[in-house]
Amino acid sequence: MSANSRPPGGALERTLHRDYYLSDRLFALERERIFFREWVCAAREEEIPDPGDYVARDVAGESVLVVRTRDGGLAAHYNVCRHRGSRLVPECGKGRFGGGIRCPYHSWTYTLDGTLRTAPFLEETDGLARDDLSLHPVGVASWGGFIFLHLTPADALTLEAQLGGVPQRLRRYPLGELRVAHRIEYDIRANWKVMLENYNECYHCGPVHPELCRLVPAFKQRGGADLDWERGIPHREGAWTFTGSGTSDRAPFEGLSEDERVRHKGELVYPNLLLSLSAEHVAAFTLRPHAPGHTTVVCEFLFHPDEIARPGFDPSDAVDFWDLVNRQDWSICESVQRGMTSRVFRTGYYAPMESWSLDIRRYVGERMGDDASRGEP
Ligand code: FES
Ligand SMILES: [Fe+2]
Repeated sequence: MSANSRPPGGALERTLHRDYYLSDRLFALERERIFFREWVCAAREEEIPDPGDYVARDVAGESVLVVRTRDGGLAAHYNVCRHRGSRLVPECGKGRFGGGIRCPYHSWTYTLDGTLRTAPFLEETDGLARDDLSLHPVGVASWGGFIFLHLTPADALTLEAQLGGVPQRLRRYPLGELRVAHRIEYDIRANWKVMLENYNECYHCGPVHPELCRLVPAFKQRGGADLDWERGIPHREGAWTFTGSGTSDRAPFEGLSEDERVRHKGELVYPNLLLSLSAEHVAAFTLRPHAPGHTTVVCEFLFHPDEIARPGFDPSDAVDFWDLVNRQDWSICESVQRGMTSRVFRTGYYAPMESWSLDIRRYVGERMGDDASRGEP
């Protein structure tokens, strides 16, 4: 489900070859050519509000520290000590550095910006060249309150260039002001692209999401062939948001267009952020791939802080509805992943109403080599 430029629908098209979903070799190549070569969404700014706050995140198998610096900016470093390679922070998670980033092994200490400050009992006369021993840098930039990382910063385009038309399309949603009121982590036995492809089509909505289709009947009409994501998808009569009842006592975001106050929008922000936008909340899905058949999905529910502060604020009407839909999606994605392991499966087909998924094949093909878009490994 996305407003990315859509190739015109036509005949059935081949999907990526099975190896793109199953093979360790191609997954390793995807790490190098996609996840270490693109801006990847990794956190929300609100997770690290104060100087010294950090979050350690896994980015396709690389551990990265994202830090709030003294001047309120962001810095990101590989979580690797320059001395003998110890992890600076042992586990993924959040915390706060006191003075600086101190390695637990021999106490080499770095500033929040990553410069080596002290190495116990060593001086320049010992050959300690501090300037050459900064932490390995990771690119960091943010948009809409989302922190993106680039693991090969010397070769990075700007985040702005990578995001393309997304910020413009979503300009009326106050993403940067919103706050996470609830977070669910799903551990899914499926390839990250299976989940993107599932997100990008509603051909499955009729069979897989009966409750969702009662709220948004357009999702099942003609297999979702006529959905206008640019304008937004209308709900059933009387409903205007993604909750069990289709309504909410929360106010719509200020500044939305008339359509946006009653319709649902979606964006796939390559490679790993999916945004589902209702008038009074946003569900943000961040994919963290671990292996060809293993992906963590972090689903964050964003609301306006004024609503969160209101007495009696209760996001469960949105959270419960999404959790139901999410579980239906992840369950069918895991079924696809299992099915593709069969010896008889080589490649599948995108139907015309799944033509947005062709864009995923294009995206992967451009980065992995032309063969991918021809359905060959
Ligand atoms: S490995 Fe970090 S100080 Fe020795
Ligand atoms: Fe779905």
